[in-house]
Amino acid sequence: MSESTDQAHIGVVGLAVMGSNLARNFARNGNTVAVYNRSPERTRALIQDHGEEGNFIPSESIEDFVASLERPRKAIIMVQAGAATDAVIEQLADAMDDGDIIIDGGNALYTDTIRREKEMAQRNRHFVGAGISGGEEGALNGPSIMPGGPAESWKTLGPILESIAAVVDGVPCVTHIGPDGAGHFVKMVHNGIEYADMQVIGEAYQLLRYGAGMEPAEIAAVFQEWNSGDLDSYLIEITAEVLGTTDPDTGKPLVDVILDAAGQKGTGRWTAISGLDFGIPITAIAEAVFARALSSSADQRSAAQEGDLPAGTAVDFEALGISREEFIEDVRRALYASKLIAYSQGFDLIKAGSDEHNWNVDPRDLATIWRGGCIIRAKFLDRIREAYDTNPQLPALILDPYFKHELADLIDPWRRVVIAATQLGLPAPVFASSLSYYDSLRASRLPAALVQGQRDFFGAHTFKRVDKEGTYHIEWSADRSITKMD
Ligand code: 6PG
Repeated sequence: MSESTDQAHIGVVGLAVMGSNLARNFARNGNTVAVYNRSPERTRALIQDHGEEGNFIPSESIEDFVASLERPRKAIIMVQAGAATDAVIEQLADAMDDGDIIIDGGNALYTDTIRREKEMAQRNRHFVGAGISGGEEGALNGPSIMPGGPAESWKTLGPILESIAAVVDGVPCVTHIGPDGAGHFVKMVHNGIEYADMQVIGEAYQLLRYGAGMEPAEIAAVFQEWNSGDLDSYLIEITAEVLGTTDPDTGKPLVDVILDAAGQKGTGRWTAISGLDFGIPITAIAEAVFARALSSSADQRSAAQEGDLPAGTAVDFEALGISREEFIEDVRRALYASKLIAYSQGFDLIKAGSDEHNWNVDPRDLATIWRGGCIIRAKFLDRIREAYDTNPQLPALILDPYFKHELADLIDPWRRVVIAATQLGLPAPVFASSLSYYDSLRASRLPAALVQGQRDFFGAHTFKRVDKEGTYHIEWSADRSITKMD
């Protein structure tokens, strides 16, 4: 290791795989990197295994770590979100001086980041919550980075973060998202979109497996082919890899030996809660969160399986007027349509959060930095950026002329796929909820009119009319006359 005698441009606290890979990425890109881990073995292992990759300054105390940083000091925390992060923030804040920068690179809840930024500002420390996407591989070779925090911090941090981020068409996949919690909010919604993306890919897999009667290896080839078209994306690419893999122990398709109970660390759930808080119908994302929860409700599922609840029937392609091959193409098109809905809903939530907190998040920035490095990177993000370039005030992404036309072209296969899933008795919560979202958005009349009547009947909650101004109530328990209430 070329142990540097200079001071470090940047420091990393927390050297599990993500933190170590991030430190290595900084070092490989010409930065002198200070590194510290609470248990020193990890620090020593990093230097022993990868010390030759660049200039590292290892420390075995927070005080030595901080002392090894050039001013204004910049330290990225890569430890478990929650109490562990709070503890390290306190240690760094105590050891640092005015104007130094603490960056939380974990998946913190954005409201925690807002609180921490305020607390640190009172101590003349800059606090930056930065979403870092791309997993362990991204951290090492180029993540997409979503830093929030003070604009002043970005002036210092920008060049260093740009040196390690993924690059697409010469543009680094990092930019200042907005003040205080903006970065972690956007990362949270990124993860919510990721959940919806993964779930609807799973639903497409189930339809090809149990509707078209295909084997995992066959389906892997189909996903591989889809990855060269509109669906070109990281998640489609890795889906082909997973489905094409056999279990080393049994030789069976790996997907068949994996327990079908999905885990979740919480970012998708936070996104769904935010959608409810802000009143934004992120139905695709919420359904994906619930699908993970249902998949893990083992007792209820086994009781339901013993309860011989009626299953679906085989797909009658003739009745649907299509061939098996056309069904596979229908699934591809329904998958593309549902992904568009998930991204559109995600961008709606980001706008709501940005408006609420005055962050002024620019959707064009997100479409740009999500093109590479992150888990939801996808070719059509270029189109999403064009849509917002054309009209930054788009009422909804799917109302952009290009996407409106795309969805009109996808609607028939989308409906056929939801019909087939229903007939098959295959769960398709994201396919179906995305289609209902689309139909709700375009509907000239919604059942909300009846809901308002019901609310007024039992709770005198009043209603508005389509034909004249004002708020009204029917005297339901008397002569059912109508009263104008304002
Ligand atoms: C990313 C990922 C990552 C995510 C983990 C676990 O952007 O690199 O979204 O941040 O947190 O992959 O996510 P879940 O356990 O919630 O699926």
